[in-house]
Amino acid sequence: MQESVRASGAGGGVRTPSSAQEVAVLRGHLERVGYTADGVLARIGEDGQEGLLRNVTVPALHALGEARDELAAAIRLFCLGQDVPADQVSFLEPVADVFLAPGAAPGHVKAAVDLRPYGSPDDGASGWVVSDVMPSLDFVTAPTHPSYVLGVSPASSTLAQMVMRAPVGSALDLGTGCGVQSLHLARHAGHVVATDLNPRAVTLASWSAALSGAEIEFACGDLFAPVAGRRFDLIVSNPPFVLSPPSSEEDTLTYRETNFRGDGLLATILADAPRHLAPSGSIQLLTNWAIVDGQPWEERLAGFAQGTGLDFFAIERERLDVYSYIEMWLADAGLAGTAGWRPAYERWLRYFADLGIVGVGMGWICATAAGRATPHVRIESWPHAVQQPVGEVFARHRAAVDAALVPDDVLLASRPSLVDVREETMGQPGAADPEYLVLRQSRGLLRAMQVDTAFGAVLGALDGELSVGQVIAAVADLLDEDPADLRTRLLPPLRTALEEQYLRPEEG
Ligand SMILES: C[S@@+](CC[C@H](N)C(=O)[O-])C[C@H]1O[C@@H](n2cnc3c(N)ncnc32)[C@H](O)[C@@H]1O
Repeated sequence: MQESVRASGAGGGVRTPSSAQEVAVLRGHLERVGYTADGVLARIGEDGQEGLLRNVTVPALHALGEARDELAAAIRLFCLGQDVPADQVSFLEPVADVFLAPGAAPGHVKAAVDLRPYGSPDDGASGWVVSDVMPSLDFVTAPTHPSYVLGVSPASSTLAQMVMRAPVGSALDLGTGCGVQSLHLARHAGHVVATDLNPRAVTLASWSAALSGAEIEFACGDLFAPVAGRRFDLIVSNPPFVLSPPSSEEDTLTYRETNFRGDGLLATILADAPRHLAPSGSIQLLTNWAIVDGQPWEERLAGFAQGTGLDFFAIERERLDVYSYIEMWLADAGLAGTAGWRPAYERWLRYFADLGIVGVGMGWICATAAGRATPHVRIESWPHAVQQPVGEVFARHRAAVDAALVPDDVLLASRPSLVDVREETMGQPGAADPEYLVLRQSRGLLRAMQVDTAFGAVLGALDGELSVGQVIAAVADLLDEDPADLRTRLLPPLRTALEEQYLRPEEG
C-alpha cells in the first residue's frame, strides 16, 4: 500500500484504497476509456459541461445521444446520476464495493460515490476527485445527509484560485472534503497534510489523492487537533462557514456548518492559526462573517485578528441580507419545497435576530506571520469583477505592504514600476483636459484609482529606472509646482499605489 493513501480514522462506510496496484489499475482503466477532464469535455461539449456546472444533465445527455460505449457509460453513471448496465462499466468491477451500488433494474448499477475527472487550467492540477453523489440534479433535490462529502464546488474553485502558489515546505488542507485543495497543494508544497472531522471525507479524499498521484498525509479530527504541535508554511481552508442555528450532532451538515455561535468558527480558526504557522507562514480562508447591527463590519473582523500577531488582509466579495442568505442555504440543504422549509426559515431568522446579525459577508482572508511589531491590517470591500486566479495578488501583498511602509527618504530613493495598468480618461468631447483620469489594473483584482494630472504623470513615469524622488522633481518642474509641496502631496497616494499593487517594488 502506498504510504500516502493511508488515512487515520478512515471509515464513514467506505474503505481506503487497498494497494497502490489497485489504484494504478483503476487509473489505467479510466485513462483507457477516456474518462479524463479532456475526454469528458470532448464528449459532452461546452454546453454539457456548463449544464453540469448548473447541476443540469440535459445538455450532456443530448450530447451522448444513444452511445453505449464505456466512456458514455462512465459519464452517465458518475456525472448524470443514471443507472447503467453493469457490463458497460465492467472495468469498475474490482472497486465495485466502493464505487457501485445496485441499480433499480436487474443487471444495472448506479454510482455509490461520485468520481469526476479534474483539471485546473490555472496551475495544471489534475486527476480525479471522489466525493458523495450530488443530492440535487435537474432540480430534483433530496435532503442532504449530515456526513455528506461535498465534491468540487464553486467555493472550492475560488479558494484554489486565491491560494498563493509559490513553492513551500509544508501545507495544511484544513477540512479537506473531497481533497481537491490537496491536489493543488501537492504541486508546490514539499509535504501536504489534509484533515477533516468527517471520516468519510478523509476516506474519499484518500481515493482522490491516490488516483491523482498526489502524496498526502491524511488525518481525521476537529480543526487543528490532528496537527497539534505542528507548524505549516501555508494553511488553506474553506471551512464549514455557514452561519446556521445550532442543531444536534446527528443533524449538523458537517460539509457546511458547525455549532459555533454566529461566526465563532472563523474567530477560533484565526485565534489558533499562529500556533500552526511557521515563521512567514500564511493562512488563506474563503469564508463568511456576520454583519452585526450597530458594529462597523471592518472593526468587528479586525477584532478576530487582534492579538494574533498576524498581518491581516480581508476582502469582502459579496454581502447578503439575512433573507437571501437563509433561503440560499435552506435550498442547499434540500428543504426548498418541503413542509420543513418555513419553520426552519423562521428558526433561522430568530437565531440571527438574537445575535443581532443583519447580514452576512462572504469573502477572502489571508493572514500572515510577517513578524511585524505592529501587524498590518487591511480590510476592504471589493465586490467587482476580478481576473482569476488572484493568488498572485495575495502572494505579492506582503512585499507590497513592506514597500508602502518604508520611511519617506527610502520611498523617495526607491525605483518601483507601474505594472499591468491601463489609463482611462473621461470628460467632455473636445475639451482640452479630461475631467477624470482613472488608472485601472488589467490583472488580478482589477482595481481602479482616480488620479490627478500630477499623480498620473508620476505613476506613468515610474518604470523601475528613475527613483520616486527624481520623477516627482521632473513632474514638479514640468507643471511648475513646488517640488517639496508635490512630494508632501504625493507620498501618501504613492504608498497606497504600492500597497494596492499598481506599483511593483524593485526586485531584491
Ligand atoms: C466547505 S467544505 C470544504 C471542502 C474542501 N476543502 C473543498 O475545497 O471543496 C468544509 C469541510 O470541512 C469539514 N469540517 C467540518 N467541520 C470540521 C471540523 N470541526 N474540523 C475539521 N473539518 C471540518 C467538512 O467535513 C468539509 O469537508
